[in-house]
Amino acid sequence: MEFSGKTAFVTGAANGIGLGLCRALARSGVNLAMSDIEAAQLEAARRELSSFNVRTRAIPLDVSDADAFARAADEAEAEFGNIHFLCNNAGITMKPAPLWEITPQQWEWIIGVNVHGVINGIRALVPRMKAHGEAGHIVNTASIGGLQVNPKLRNGAYAMTKYAVVAASEALALDLEGSHLGVSVLCPAIVATTLYASAQRRPERLGGPFGRPSPEYAKAFHAVGIPPDDVGRRVLDAVARNEFFIFTHAEPREWIEARHQRLMAGFDALDRYQARKDGE
Ligand SMILES: NC(=O)c1ccc[n+]([C@@H]2O[C@H](COP(=O)([O-])OP(=O)(O)OC[C@H]3O[C@@H](n4cnc5c(N)ncnc54)[C@H](O)[C@@H]3O)[C@@H](O)[C@H]2O)c1
Repeated sequence: MEFSGKTAFVTGAANGIGLGLCRALARSGVNLAMSDIEAAQLEAARRELSSFNVRTRAIPLDVSDADAFARAADEAEAEFGNIHFLCNNAGITMKPAPLWEITPQQWEWIIGVNVHGVINGIRALVPRMKAHGEAGHIVNTASIGGLQVNPKLRNGAYAMTKYAVVAASEALALDLEGSHLGVSVLCPAIVATTLYASAQRRPERLGGPFGRPSPEYAKAFHAVGIPPDDVGRRVLDAVARNEFFIFTHAEPREWIEARHQRLMAGFDALDRYQARKDGE
């Protein structure tokens, strides 16, 4: 995969993993259409990235708004021409809660950003990336929580949205099989970002900002999280090698194996059921 001189559209680019992705892309000579709901932080990030000898444009966007995403894609194309890389990365998290305690408004927000945001990105940009015929890649940011529900964190609603991002990525990879476009799904464990401040970024049309980021939550993220720049470098290496699942932490391997064993136990139970039926 050639990077230099190409263009990437990155959502959630003002902070955290999105900014780490932008830094890695810029280091490889990729021009950047950077989008985020936080316009002021986005402009600050764009200014930083413009020092890397690549072209940059800040495009404020609420990814949960399909029409706004289509307009943002038009703006990026008008500025840069063909878009080669799409990083559907913007996402939010909520305070862990049992599913029955989550309000319809909270569901709308988390599904709106984490699921519709990815769908809107795919709808707005993949047809254009297919049409121009130049090699490119789509990276959807899910989470290790998109492959198992963490029994300690109990963040089931978040995990539900990230399972959806994994499924969307698997489906997209099949839809684009044999084409000039590759697909990856990024599944990190904890990264030292500003995800703890998600409530401050709820779009106005979904209720607006609420609550305050808890300092303990922020501290916990930064105490155990890996640097977002490491994630950016890892992603570029994986894209260059066309890897589908992009992991950033080795520790969750055991959780994933345990989940796989639970799935297999379901098939073992079916075998026993069938044997009982055959014996009747
Ligand atoms: N930090 C982690 O530990 C971790 C782990 C696994 C997955 N992730 C995922 O990584 C992605 C990036 O998150 P992060 O950890 O860098 O957090 P972050 O909060 O630092 O960055 C997310 C960015 O998305 C933006 N954003 C939020 N709502 C938006 C909206 N409606 N439209 C456009 N932009 C919006 C925010 O303003 C922010 O700049 C998310 O999808 C998150 O779920 C994070």
